[in-house]
Amino acid sequence: MSHPSPLFTPLRVGELDLPNRVLMAPMTRGRATADGVPLPHMAIYYAQRASGGLLITEATSISPQGVGWVNAPRIDQPAHVAAWRPVTQAVHDAGGRIFLQLWHMGRASHPDFQGGQLPVGPSAIAAAGESHTPEGKKPYVTPRALETRELAGVVADYAHAARNAVEAGFDGVEIHGANGYLVDQFIRDGSNQRTDDYGGSIAKRWRFPLEVVDAVVAAIGASRTAIRLSPTGAYNGMSDSDPVASFSFGARELSQRGLAFVHLVAPLPGHMMANPAAPAVTPAVRAAFDGVLVVNGGYTRDAADAVIASGEADAVAFGVPYLANPDLPARLEANAPLNAPDFATFYSPGEQGYTDYPALA
Ligand SMILES: Cc1cc2nc3c(=O)[nH]c(=O)nc-3n(C[C@H](O)[C@H](O)[C@H](O)COP(=O)(O)O)c2cc1C
Repeated sequence: MSHPSPLFTPLRVGELDLPNRVLMAPMTRGRATADGVPLPHMAIYYAQRASGGLLITEATSISPQGVGWVNAPRIDQPAHVAAWRPVTQAVHDAGGRIFLQLWHMGRASHPDFQGGQLPVGPSAIAAAGESHTPEGKKPYVTPRALETRELAGVVADYAHAARNAVEAGFDGVEIHGANGYLVDQFIRDGSNQRTDDYGGSIAKRWRFPLEVVDAVVAAIGASRTAIRLSPTGAYNGMSDSDPVASFSFGARELSQRGLAFVHLVAPLPGHMMANPAAPAVTPAVRAAFDGVLVVNGGYTRDAADAVIASGEADAVAFGVPYLANPDLPARLEANAPLNAPDFATFYSPGEQGYTDYPALA
């Protein structure tokens, strides 16, 4: 059978040959221990989904300071590395490839995760929304602005986490630079009002994110390093005065670094994460970035084929459809019906709504 669908053509990403362009988007599931140690059912969940071109894990904390979501996994301690190893092994045994998403929540953490101390951010400006603490949801607090002299330590935490990820068997890492967490908080001027060399102009706001990228590249190599960005996302109270200029600058800088890919959360119109007031940024990023570009947000098979065929992107990441369909690539290829997601079990502990979604018979 021939495959006219662009989604089902191979793609080279870094040193990897992906058999298709259906990626699993990173999704927090809250199914690790309270100390961020992956549990055995996580290996089953990811291995069930191994037919995707590339799986990107749920966001995973790089340091105790970066923690801030109940039962989300970590990668900073040897116990985390040891418990991630069966996950990567299971995915590889099933023929798949998997990147770890590196997470520091910045101002979107909460004192309940920080021994009562304030979470840190670029500036003392609170996020809008609520933290998922062990005691339920609580409003975000105003963070403490990181001192300039502290930033090198945070950058080093990313590099340490990236080395741990490779030691745990991951094929690479995706730096979480999206959705209002620390890296995104530095990029966008609604959350970064710093007056040192890490805030103000677009170039200064990109300084910390690019230092993180460069440190991770130095630790594990550019072909194993990717970054996720959400240029127009409003989640967690994010805003920016000129996303086209800022992300064009960022894309030009990233283009010089030979990364595995850049991943844009750029939701299709009508998606719950779309920002109708914002300009389209993807074409500007595409024009400025010379590498593999992944897009995400509300894609169906037809929309994914169309965006790849148009040349605007090289691959598409699927979130909720992949959560609910372990065999998503086969279903998309066959135009088969999809399982409906159960929103009530997105973040709940246990197997239900996690490893029990059926594959096609
Ligand atoms: C349960 C859930 C958890 C998520 N966790 C993350 C995460 O850890 N990191 C991230 O970058 N995005 C996260 N997202 C956003 C998804 O990666 C994706 O951008 C979003 O679901 C839109 O894509 P879709 O329409 O294909 O689902 C999450 C989304 C959901 C539904």
